[in-house]
Order: sequence, then C-alpha cells, then structure tokens
Amino acid sequence: MTRKHASLIGWGHYAPENVVTNADLEKIVDTSDEWIKSRSGIERRHFVSEDQATSDLSIEAGRRALEMSGVAPEDVDLVIVATSSPDYLTPPVSSQVQHGLGCVNAGAFAMMVGCTGFVYGLVTADQFIQTGAYKTILVVGAEVISKNLDMTDRTTCVLFGDGAGAVVLQATDAPCGVRSFELGSDGSQAEALIAPCPGTRNPVSQYAVDNRTHYLRMDGRAVFKFATRTMTESLQRVMGKAGVGVDDVDLFIPHQANARIIEYAAKTLALPPEKVVMNVADYGNTSAATIPIALSEALTAGRAEAGDTLALVGFGAGLTWAACLFDLGPLVGTARASHEATEATSGDGATVDSVIDDRGVVDGLIA
Ligand code: ACO
Repeated sequence: MTRKHASLIGWGHYAPENVVTNADLEKIVDTSDEWIKSRSGIERRHFVSEDQATSDLSIEAGRRALEMSGVAPEDVDLVIVATSSPDYLTPPVSSQVQHGLGCVNAGAFAMMVGCTGFVYGLVTADQFIQTGAYKTILVVGAEVISKNLDMTDRTTCVLFGDGAGAVVLQATDAPCGVRSFELGSDGSQAEALIAPCPGTRNPVSQYAVDNRTHYLRMDGRAVFKFATRTMTESLQRVMGKAGVGVDDVDLFIPHQANARIIEYAAKTLALPPEKVVMNVADYGNTSAATIPIALSEALTAGRAEAGDTLALVGFGAGLTWAACLFDLGPLVGTARASHEATEATSGDGATVDSVIDDRGVVDGLIA
C-alpha cells in the first residue's frame, strides 16, 4: 500500500459569546487588570452560558471546519476530540460530537491529555492516514474550563477560558502532514495541575465538594518552569529530527497559556515575532483548544499557505508535552477559495478582520 499523507483541508473555531474582561474579574476576586496582563498577557476570555457544554462548542467548531473543507459529514471516517472537560465522564464526548455533526459513518474517541491533547490528536490522526486505514479525519480540541474553576481562587480563575477549534485532515499523495513529532509525559508531576474529584481516586462525596476538590488546582510556578523548558527543548528536538532549523519553519503555534512562556521560548530559539502566533490576550488559556483556535485564526488571516511548515507545541496536565512539524499540503475546495478571497479583499492586510466573521470563515463563501 502506498504511504499516504495528511493534508489539512479545513479549519474552524468557536468561542462562546460571553466575554469576561479582567475588569469583570476585579469585581469577583482580589486581582487587577494590571496583574493579570503583566503576569500572563491575558486581557479577556470567553465563558460559556449555563446551558452550553463542551460538545456544543466542539460541534460548532467541527461544523465550520467541515463546511470549509467541503467534506460531507457522512464521509468522515474518524472523529477525535481532545478535551479535559467532557460533558460527562461516560459516555465519551466524542460520540456526542460525531452524532451532532452527522458523521454517521465515523468511529470516534476522546483523548484526555490536558492542554497537550490537540497535538496528540493531530499526530494520531496523521498516523491513521499514513497507514491508509482512514481517508478523512476530524480533529477537535475543545474545553469548557470555566465550569471547573474555583471563582474564589485568584491564582487559577483569571487564567482560563472556554473555546474550541477543529481541523479536517484528508489523505493525499502529495508530501505533507506531520514531518516529525514528539509526545512526552512526566507523571511524577501529576499534582502540579489537578482536579482531584470526580474520579475513582476521589468519587463525588459531600466531603469532596465541601473541600472544593472538584475544582482545578495548579502549582503555577512548577508548571511555568516545566513549560519554559519543555517548550523550547521539544521544539528543538522535532526540528532536529526533521533536519531543519528555525529559518525553515514558517509559523510557530505554541500552546497559549501565558505570553511570558511563549516570549521566553521565542527569545531562546531566536524566533522572529512575526513567525509566532499569540492570541492569549483574547481567549486566555483554553487548554486543548488553544492550538486549534490559534491555528484557525492564523490560517484564516493568511499567515501560512500551501507548502508552509508549521511547528505546533503544547504542554499541560500530566504533566505532558507534545510538539510536531506539520507541512501544509495543497489546500482544496472552499479552503483555497477562502484564502484567495482573504488576500483579494484584505489588500495590505488592514481590512482583513472586517471580512472574517466570528466563525473564522470569510463572509459570503460559507453559508
Ligand atoms: N491577582 C493578583 N495577585 C495574584 C493573583 C491574581 N490573580 N494570583 C496570584 N497572585 C499573587 C500571589 O498570591 C503572589 O503573592 P505573594 O507574593 O504575596 O504570595 C504573587 O501574586 C506572585 O505569585 P506567583 O505565583 O509567584 O506569580 P507568577 O509570576 O509565578 O505568575 C502564574 C503566576 C501566571 C500562574 C505563572 O506562574 C504561570 O503562568 N504559570 C504557568 C501556568 C500555566 O501555564 N498553566 C497552564 C498549563 S497547563 C494548561 O494549560 C492546563
């Protein structure tokens, strides 16, 4: 069987309408806009409404990615959803997404790898395509973190947000897809980022709830130290494996947890700012959703094109990390048309925002 390659043919993202600014949080906890901005780079984040759950965000992002790709839902072979905040522990959220999108012929599974999940999912999808097992795969990264945040804990509640991003990969003979990757895990640091309940270690109980163990807890300094080291080192290793250097990579899309972590990595690796995607100011840390949202925004804005090499790198609960180099193949269908329309309408780039709607697609092309 000829080895196939995974071409990224559609993308989309979705963030809930409710925007929570740093000023809004100042009214809830003892914090300040100045502290949040200077320590994390975050200015606002999106929180779901009470009736929204992770599958709703995933379905919206997935629908946009499928529409852009021109692939009919029934032609999707596999749906992978990376999340740490599923609607339920059972059943898997991936089946709700598969059903909600009408992917009636697809298998589906969820990946719980913290903020690193989307890169794990992308690499896994690429493997299925390379072997020829599957032709078309939808990969989603989605989170509703806000419902697991202790809004009395200023060390966590100011950092996170909700959102979803999705991509459609399709088999092609053209050389593209994941060129090199690294998946990492260090379970010795499990306690650094943990929601202790519910689970088989701490089932739901009055005691667990009274002690607020159902909320996310984080040792920010430990995670910061881990993140700055693993982000730079894993990027160096995947570039080394592929035999390329920083100059050969067209766009770096790191996990958006903290602007200082991204700036540290960019400085250490001497990355030009224009090659680094950073949108943490607008979304906060949406965990497994940060990379696909940043990817979707960057591609819609025309920051990368066919043949370009992307470097994706994530880190998170586990603690885990993952990095990969991904070559963009020939864009097909409406994805290509969308790019051309963006270029034609945006001219020098000054008006690009005005032609991109909040679904991450270009007005007039996608109904
Ligand atoms: N507002 C005001 N003051 C605050 C706040 C807040 N929201 N939060 C903490 N502080 C205070 C602390 O209490 C501390 O006060 P003290 O010195 O009197 O004790 C002071 O600010 C400094 O606290 P530090 O924790 O040292 O602040 P630091 O500069 O390390 O920044 C931060 C904290 C932003 C959490 C940083 O450590 C960080 O970004 N860590 C990594 C976090 C991360 O990436 N998490 C996610 C990774 S995985 C995933 O994405 C799910």
